[in-house]
Amino acid sequence: MEDEITFSNVFGGGGEIRKYFAPGRVNLIGEHTDYNGGHVFPCALSIGTYAAVRKRTDRKLRFYSENFPEAGVIETSLDDREYHKELGWTNYPRGVVWAAEEAGFRADCGFDVMYRGTIPNSSGLSSSASIEVLTGFFLADLYGFSYDGITNAKLGQRAENAFIGVNCGIMDQFAIAMGRKGHAIFLNTGTLKYEYAPLDLQGVRIVIMNTNKKRGLGDSKYNERRAECEEALRYVRQVVPADALCELTKEQWEAAREAIPSPVLRRRAEHAVTENLRTLAAYEALKQGNLAAFGRLMNESHISLKENYEVTGRELDTLAEAAWQQDGVLGARMTGAGFGGCAVSLVNEDAVSSFVTNVGKIYREQIGYDATFYEAETGSGPQRIG
Ligand code: GLA
Repeated sequence: MEDEITFSNVFGGGGEIRKYFAPGRVNLIGEHTDYNGGHVFPCALSIGTYAAVRKRTDRKLRFYSENFPEAGVIETSLDDREYHKELGWTNYPRGVVWAAEEAGFRADCGFDVMYRGTIPNSSGLSSSASIEVLTGFFLADLYGFSYDGITNAKLGQRAENAFIGVNCGIMDQFAIAMGRKGHAIFLNTGTLKYEYAPLDLQGVRIVIMNTNKKRGLGDSKYNERRAECEEALRYVRQVVPADALCELTKEQWEAAREAIPSPVLRRRAEHAVTENLRTLAAYEALKQGNLAAFGRLMNESHISLKENYEVTGRELDTLAEAAWQQDGVLGARMTGAGFGGCAVSLVNEDAVSSFVTNVGKIYREQIGYDATFYEAETGSGPQRIG
C-alpha cells in the first residue's frame, strides 16, 4: 500500500502516519449458533483491511476508502454520535468510535484515516467486522487505550448491534480480533472460552467459493432468524431450563421439540441445536486428524442451513451441491450469514484445479454468471504494520 503518497494526496502531508492491518475470516462450521450460545469454528484469513491513520489536533474525523473512491473524503466529527445513512460505509468505523466512547475510551482529538480492503464486499468473509476490529485496534494504539482483543471484539459487535442495527453474534469480531495464522478458533460463544486448533490439513486445501451474489435483504432476514430462535427458546424453556438453544443436549432437544407449536420455529431450533453438536463433533474429528468426518459434518451443516434454517438460496446450494459431486472433495457448505456470499470446501490439493474448473462450469450453466474461487490462507489478528 503506497499510503504515504496516496495519504498525502488525499489528506495533505505532515504528521506521523501509522499503518495497520486486520484480517477477514471464514467459518469452517458452526453457523447461526453464535447468538444461540453455541460453538463456532472460524479462522482468520490473510486477506483483510489496511488502514493508514494520522491524529488531528481538532475534533474532526475524515475518512477515505480506496474501495469507494467515488464517495471521496467523508468528514464528520467526534461530537456526532449518530448513525447517518448518507455517511455510508463510514458508519462502521464511526460506530466503533461511538462504542469505545460508551465504554469509557474517549479519543481527545480526531483523526484522518484511509482504508483499503482486500475482502470482497458482501461475500460473507466479514469485511465489516474486519474494518470494525481494525478501527478498535488503531484507536487503542493511537490514544493509548488499554483494552485487549476480546474487548475490542465486543466493541465491534456493539457497534454492529447498536449503531448499525444488525443483531449479529460475536463470532466475526472474535475470529478477527483473536486470529492466529495456521489455526482455527474453537469458541464457545456462551462463555467466550476458546482454544486454538492447529489447522493441520495434510494435503487438503480450504477453497472458498464466492457466489458473487450480493446479500441484499440479508440483514433483515438475519434479524428475523435471530428473533425466531428467541421465540423458539421461550417454548423450549417450558420443558427444559436453558438460557440458550445451544445449551441443549440431543436428549433435551428430543424432549423439548414438541413444545414448539410452529413447524417453522421447530426447524429453526433444530438447526441451532444440531449445528452446535456438529461443531463439537467436527472439532473432535479435526483433533483426531479425521478430515473425512470433518467434511461430512460440513455437508450436514449445509443441508440443515438449507432445509431447517432456510438461509442458503439457489446460488449457495448450486455451489455446495456441485462441490459434493467432485472427486477429492471432503466437504462443502455455505459460510457466514448466508443468502448469498460464499461457500467453503475442503479439497485434496491435487484435485483443486479440476474442482475449480468443474464447479465453475456447473455454476455458470445453472446460474448464468461466474463464481469466483480462492484458496484460503490463514492469517493473524490485527497488527500495526508501519
Ligand atoms: C454473520 C454474523 C455472525 C454469525 C454468522 C452466522 O456472519 O455476523 O455473528 O451469526 O452470520 O453464523
